[in-house]
Amino acid sequence: MKKEQTAWEVPNITSAELERDAHDAFRQHRASYPIATLQTGGYIVLRYEDVARLSSDPRLQATGTAVPVQSGITGGALFDIFQHGMLTANNHVHERRRSALSRAVASQVVSNFRSHVRHAAEALLEEGYGEGSFELGSWYATKLPALALAKMLGIPDGETPSFMLDIYEMNEFFRPHATADAIYNAEAAASRLQDYLETLVSRKWNGRADDFLSHYLTLVEADAQLSSMEVLIQIIQLIIGGTESVRTAVVAQTANLLSNPEQWKAVCADPTYVPAAVAESLRFEPGIAGVVRIAAEDIEIGESTLPAGQLVILSFMSALRDERVFQRAGSFDIFRPDLTLSNLAFGGGPHRCIADALGRAELEESLSVLTERLPNMRLTTAPVFSGHVFVRRATECWVTW
Ligand code: HEM
Repeated sequence: MKKEQTAWEVPNITSAELERDAHDAFRQHRASYPIATLQTGGYIVLRYEDVARLSSDPRLQATGTAVPVQSGITGGALFDIFQHGMLTANNHVHERRRSALSRAVASQVVSNFRSHVRHAAEALLEEGYGEGSFELGSWYATKLPALALAKMLGIPDGETPSFMLDIYEMNEFFRPHATADAIYNAEAAASRLQDYLETLVSRKWNGRADDFLSHYLTLVEADAQLSSMEVLIQIIQLIIGGTESVRTAVVAQTANLLSNPEQWKAVCADPTYVPAAVAESLRFEPGIAGVVRIAAEDIEIGESTLPAGQLVILSFMSALRDERVFQRAGSFDIFRPDLTLSNLAFGGGPHRCIADALGRAELEESLSVLTERLPNMRLTTAPVFSGHVFVRRATECWVTW
């Protein structure tokens, strides 16, 4: 018979525990219980098997506009992203918004994208090489994905710097601990980006070429299902998805390897270890901590229940260090046998990352270029990662060579 759930049975994870060391807090709690409540509200699912299964469970729904509304935002360019985007939509609306973009992304030749990334990575290193050291996050990890996306979207070189600045400012909204000033600037940047993309799209409507955006617009036209606002917002979601997660993952994989110098040396000596290093880093320190959903009805997990109407975080951060699935889960080890399981870092179910192949290729090229060009690189200031709900953030990561 099902046991009645009482409040004391589900552990609560305090904000202080998460601030101190979120990985450690998750480790302690998942040992005894599959879910926990958070001091800040809602539930968190901690174990690999449950997170993987629930990623495709239709009883967990995307949050629509609940997140901005909670922060008092009920209109404007940031709100549009939640109101018209695929990430926050459900069922047929989600499918309608995702379909053409997903096909356009799938048609991207991964090797072409790799060469955009490599070219951008080499140019950034060329610029910074003479300095002998740099802050990896701002110099390399932030710029690289924005440059690669600018190339993919066919943004003219002269317009790339302002496009990149707007992306950085807009993305501040999605990071943990965004301040009121950052949100104000993010709104202005999102609005400029919307205007800019509107112009870019209208140029493409009038003169199609053999490029990604033209291909996307052709698919949109054939489907005839999206409003012009929806078209712009799906491109903005591609930009957000393609920059935030990659930025943190680039810092994490470089820092994880440099903190384990024998593994850094192994990758420098044998580039065939690059994919393993990327996969292990996505497991050990994923760029997206987890995804937020709302329970549409009561969902049983073992002997406990995620109650209907509650916010639920499916925690990749916790699941990817689940001792039930990974041996020595708390150690970074690119030689481990169970690396394919780190795929969960790209999510699951209908919202699974639309561009996982491009994301992986980008991380691999970013690491290849660093190991080829700067094999003597050393970590002088290790980054600390924060954020346990959605995107994660890294403090400064200084390297020298
Ligand atoms: C390190 C690389 C990446 C990681 C770890 C990652 C992770 C994820 C995850 C976990 C989701 C699911 C979100 C959810 O279920 O709520 C997601 C969705 C998404 N990602 Fe990625 N991603 C990466 C790279 C990229 C890139 C390079 C792009 C675009 C070029 C991209 C675009 C998107 C988009 C548009 C979605 C929304 C899909 C939907 O709602 O149907 N991602 N990503």
